[in-house]
Amino acid sequence: MSTNPRTGSLRSAQPRATALAFVVAIAGVAAACDQKEPLPPYKQRLHRGKSSGFDAADASAAAGPSPAAVLDRVRALLQPLPAQVDNPANPITDAKRDLGRTLYFDTRLSKNQDLSCNSCHVLASYGIDVREVDGKRARTSGGHDGQTGARNSPTVYNAALALSQFWDGRAADVEAQAGMPILNPVEMAMPDEASVVRVLKSIPGYRERFEAAFPGEADPITYANMTRAIGAFERKLMTPSRFDAFLKGDLAALEPKELEGLQLFVDVGCTQCHNGPGLGGAQFQKLGSVKPWPDLTDEGRGAITGNAIDRFVFRVPLLRNVAQTGPWLHDGSIAELSTMVDKMAEHQAARGQLTPAENGAIVAFLGSLTGELPAADIAAPELPPGGPDTPKADPSR
Ligand code: HEC
Ligand code: HEC
Repeated sequence: MSTNPRTGSLRSAQPRATALAFVVAIAGVAAACDQKEPLPPYKQRLHRGKSSGFDAADASAAAGPSPAAVLDRVRALLQPLPAQVDNPANPITDAKRDLGRTLYFDTRLSKNQDLSCNSCHVLASYGIDVREVDGKRARTSGGHDGQTGARNSPTVYNAALALSQFWDGRAADVEAQAGMPILNPVEMAMPDEASVVRVLKSIPGYRERFEAAFPGEADPITYANMTRAIGAFERKLMTPSRFDAFLKGDLAALEPKELEGLQLFVDVGCTQCHNGPGLGGAQFQKLGSVKPWPDLTDEGRGAITGNAIDRFVFRVPLLRNVAQTGPWLHDGSIAELSTMVDKMAEHQAARGQLTPAENGAIVAFLGSLTGELPAADIAAPELPPGGPDTPKADPSR
């Protein structure tokens, strides 16, 4: 919000982007008119009652929107994933990434040596927590000694794209974020940075790995370097999907229903907030911006800034892989993606109820955002063995 200049500028840029999209949309409709293309159902509704020359015969032969017209329209709003998200202060090298990947899987960074980043962000399962309670995916994660936090674990895939990290954006970037769960008493529960560094230094194999990742540094095993290595690993955790192929010009990459869903995603106004290469991650927005969201307790960004205007404001989540990352919302309170889409249309987009067909098309489009997981990153690394001074697991709180 106003506390973050980056967000401010993105927010003020939004109406322009929307206006541009609108112009493109009009052009798209005009092009469709010229070609006498059949109209998809939602456009039929748009034209009904207008003297646009459309008749029922045009409309009834609906075969879906033209891929080229849709691509033209969405280009300004949605972009393909980059190969990596660079941070000039933390250049990505193979040695650093490799170290970061090892640390990501190392449970010795937790007090009871039973949790790693991969426990709550399972790379083989789209980067989320797949813990189950009563046969269903748990809403929130289980941390040290069975404690649970209040929030759902977001995926680490593509997260580096976001303007800040966490549902409330309280960490500036993936490097800053990586240092936090390790010291969080309900997560990995290490008492302080010095204890973590002591563990790392007690594991003989880490010395040369840190030296290779941070060449020329006299004492490379530091807490900050650990977060840099993990951050560098995450900065390349990108999952391109068929949607990227479409955005890059492969007009056959999306099924007709997905294409219709994509067009609706723009028409309904989802792209007002879910835009850019991540389809989100670039703004802070209130949950219930159009119509109040019932029974909210988590104040989101309001609890961080203390400003009334930030109450119930959350960082707009990225929608990459969203069909795989349920349950949804900051509290994991929504168990079905179709429910999530209906609620968004009602509470965020002023659209009111979607028809079941519209909902189905948007859900189908969201499915096309399920990407390819990077096999080499997922394979469990071989952890360097502990040394004589490596502390033992500590189950106490
Ligand atoms: C006990 C479970 C747990 C562990 C262990 C854990 N996380 Fe998380 N992680 C979460 C939860 C829950 C959130 C959301 C918390 C919030 O928003 O307040 C989160 C948020 C994140 C985010 C923010 C993503 C986004 O879109 O904003 C990243 C990145 C992340 N974790 C990476 C890591 C890394 C790296 C580690 C290891 C150093 C780690 N996590 C360890 C549960 C966990
Ligand atoms: C005004 C901004 C805004 C608009 C418009 C909007 N969203 Fe959202 N969306 C959000 C925010 C903010 C959240 C996260 C809120 C939370 O977790 O408390 C969210 C969450 C979601 C989620 C859950 C993601 C997850 O990982 O849990 C999905 C799916 C989603 N939106 C889809 C849509 C669709 C589809 C539309 C259009 C019908 C839409 N959104 C319109 C702001 C918006």
